[in-house]
Amino acid sequence: MIFDTHAHYDDSVFDADRDELLRGMAENGIGTIVNIGADIKTSAATVALTERYPFLYGAVGVHPSETDALTERDMEQLKSDCAHPKIVAVGEIGLDYHYPDTNRELQQRWFVRQLALAREVQLPVVIHSRDAANDTMQIMKEQHCEEIGGVVHCFSYSKELALQYVDMGFYIGVGGVITFSNAKKLVEAVRAVPLERIVLETDAPYLSPAPERGSRNHSGKLWFVAEKLADLKGVTVQELIRITEENARRLYRI
Ligand code: NI
Repeated sequence: MIFDTHAHYDDSVFDADRDELLRGMAENGIGTIVNIGADIKTSAATVALTERYPFLYGAVGVHPSETDALTERDMEQLKSDCAHPKIVAVGEIGLDYHYPDTNRELQQRWFVRQLALAREVQLPVVIHSRDAANDTMQIMKEQHCEEIGGVVHCFSYSKELALQYVDMGFYIGVGGVITFSNAKKLVEAVRAVPLERIVLETDAPYLSPAPERGSRNHSGKLWFVAEKLADLKGVTVQELIRITEENARRLYRI
């Protein structure tokens, strides 16, 4: 069944129908979901969700855009969350230079700190990297991320960089963007990366695939992504789903 490696079901846009939606996942062919924390509050919400749904696992961590008020006490909280049996990764963590007023040094400091946390608790990492290709790779090399492992979520860089991440032992997260008509660079990267290193993700409620681009995303829409990827990799949709599920289980050690 389909494995969604990256979703945010704690988001308030799911408040009205979260339970109904999640309980209907199996019927839609969705077998496993990893909910991803983006700050201290959503990391706590992620832990709570994992306790409610047997097929749902979680990652805890602080997104680069949420690092302004972070403290060492928050790191202690994350560390204790990581001991939960259904928390399978540290994330999403990384660098996001998209907005011009961002404090890059602060982002880098907490990225390095959370990589150290992942190493300490021996969990893989979920990397968020936007408009920060060089600094992300440099920090990951310096911190020997090949010893930590994980996934580069919503991969948006070149095929050369994708292959460098694969060489580091990382997986490449692919979602709705692959179905967009302007996804030429991502299509090239996906063609170059071995299928054994690709995992499916929604980033729900964001990045809904075509033909439903712009609407609220959820794991059931991964069928559109799976069909597109199967086509690009020259395998059947069922094969694509089976292989990416195996990859996701290896990535998250589930
Ligand atoms: Ni995300």
